[in-house]
Amino acid sequence: MVVVILVVMVVVKTMVEVEVVVEVVQVEVVVEVEVEVVVVMMVVVVEMVVVGGSSGGGSHTGGDVPFPRACQKDSLADLMFLVDESVGTKQNLRDLQNFLKNITFSMDVKDNCLRLGLMSYSDRVQTFSLLSSSTTQSEFQKQIQKLSLQAGKSNAGAAIEKMRREGFSASSGSRRAQGVPQIAVLVTDRPSDDKVREAALNLRLEDVTVFAMGIQGANKTQLEEIVSYPPGQTISMMKSYADLEIYSKNFLKKLQNEIWSQISTHAEQMELDKTGNAISAFHFSAGCVDTKEADLYFLIDGSSSIQNKHFEQIKEFMLAVIEMFSIGPDKVRVGAVQYSHEKEVEFDINDYTNDVALRKAVSNIKQLGGNTLTGAALDFILPLIRKGRKQRMNEVPCYLIVLTDGMSMDGVLEPAERLRAEHITIHVVGIGEANRTQLQQIAGAEERVNFGQNFDSLKSIKNEVVRSICTEKGKQKKKVLFSVLRWLLQAG
Ligand SMILES: *[C@@H]1O[C@H](CO)[C@@H](O)[C@H](O)[C@H]1NC(C)=O
Ligand SMILES: *[C@@H]1O[C@H](CO)[C@@H](O)[C@H](O)[C@H]1NC(C)=O
Ligand SMILES: *[C@@H]1O[C@H](CO)[C@@H](O)[C@H](O)[C@H]1NC(C)=O
Repeated sequence: MVVVILVVMVVVKTMVEVEVVVEVVQVEVVVEVEVEVVVVMMVVVVEMVVVGGSSGGGSHTGGDVPFPRACQKDSLADLMFLVDESVGTKQNLRDLQNFLKNITFSMDVKDNCLRLGLMSYSDRVQTFSLLSSSTTQSEFQKQIQKLSLQAGKSNAGAAIEKMRREGFSASSGSRRAQGVPQIAVLVTDRPSDDKVREAALNLRLEDVTVFAMGIQGANKTQLEEIVSYPPGQTISMMKSYADLEIYSKNFLKKLQNEIWSQISTHAEQMELDKTGNAISAFHFSAGCVDTKEADLYFLIDGSSSIQNKHFEQIKEFMLAVIEMFSIGPDKVRVGAVQYSHEKEVEFDINDYTNDVALRKAVSNIKQLGGNTLTGAALDFILPLIRKGRKQRMNEVPCYLIVLTDGMSMDGVLEPAERLRAEHITIHVVGIGEANRTQLQQIAGAEERVNFGQNFDSLKSIKNEVVRSICTEKGKQKKKVLFSVLRWLLQAG
């Protein structure tokens, strides 16, 4: 069985000009069930090459950051370390330094692919190296040697705040505006004496992926407030500083995977861009070109347990999902119902026929307040969906995305099954206090449950929900299991 794979190689010529080269490669796949649907896999390989452009001179400062010439796919990032300098003993300090050295030793600091920064804290914050200042491997190693043993309180919150404002600012060398992955790594062995939640949230909202290494004594609950979602992957707990060095190889892999996956997501989004317009080298609006026709409903929890600013994040989530699709009467249509113990149709599936009007309608949604009755809300939306279906010439896929932060006071299983019986695919996004059993009952399958610790995890959840919706069509009837044995890139 031979299936064609398209390998799209993207050559970034300048910041805005993008050239796409398509190559055809053959791949063998093992197919377990007879194939009814043609399976087309897209493998996106990104080669970042800047033709012309900056000459790598050191004259660039501030927002005008030189763009990398050619980077390994896993080494284009701005990476800041924030270490607690009150480590107790000289040996611990040496272990910490060795860890930092080992992690950064094999990284490609030159050519501006990877930029490294180093800050430390105890009761006050110290900056050893800004992203723009250590332009070589050995310079950064020298900065690591300057770390010294400190005593004093642990003000991690203040340190994170300073890292956001100063460490990750464009004038310090951050290339966030160019879409370069932003990553922070915190190392500490004790609980923080100040509050961390707000400072860390602000940092993550600026697109920084936050990892934490907790040495015995650190407060794991607090680290969970700090790191990016999912904490199971971003927190590493260790018994002692001595364990850091042993762990350095694995951690380096983890970082590289993160960078690689961020860069690949950008590339994938570019490939899927519905308008074909790449705004800059990395800033691409995304879309699901395959989902030509579908009805998409949002059922959003507006109960009082949700703070207003978090409700705004739910709306941002809706806008971000909508942006991924082509909106129109014969394309993707979107409807929304808000609920608490009341229900309100925010807009019906045929109310808005273009994305401008739709976006405006989402922005205008006002939070209801009240208790959480998700079951009743699910029952409420079913007749709406039935009515919407009658307006279509053909049957099109129908998706319902439920967003909730709380435990429902009524049963959800039966209402959800009534929806599923009519071929409505339910995705659920639970945040914070949401009851996992109920989420599972609403979605009907674990793979359609997304769970976020915090509201800012909605950002990464969005990608998962959309990816899942956009790939669901191909496996609608027969389940096709395939595994790629090998693929050969024809020399090009
Ligand atoms: C750990 O942090 C959490 C959240 O900040 C806090 O409620 C808890 O009391 C802390 N535990 C310890 C042992 O410091
Ligand atoms: C870390 O670096 C030291 C000194 O460069 C080296 O001896 C050690 O083997 C490295 N450890 C690991 C786990 O790579
Ligand atoms: C979660 O929901 C299930 C089903 O409604 C219920 O049996 C369970 O007690 C709930 N768990 C919590 C912690 O409230």
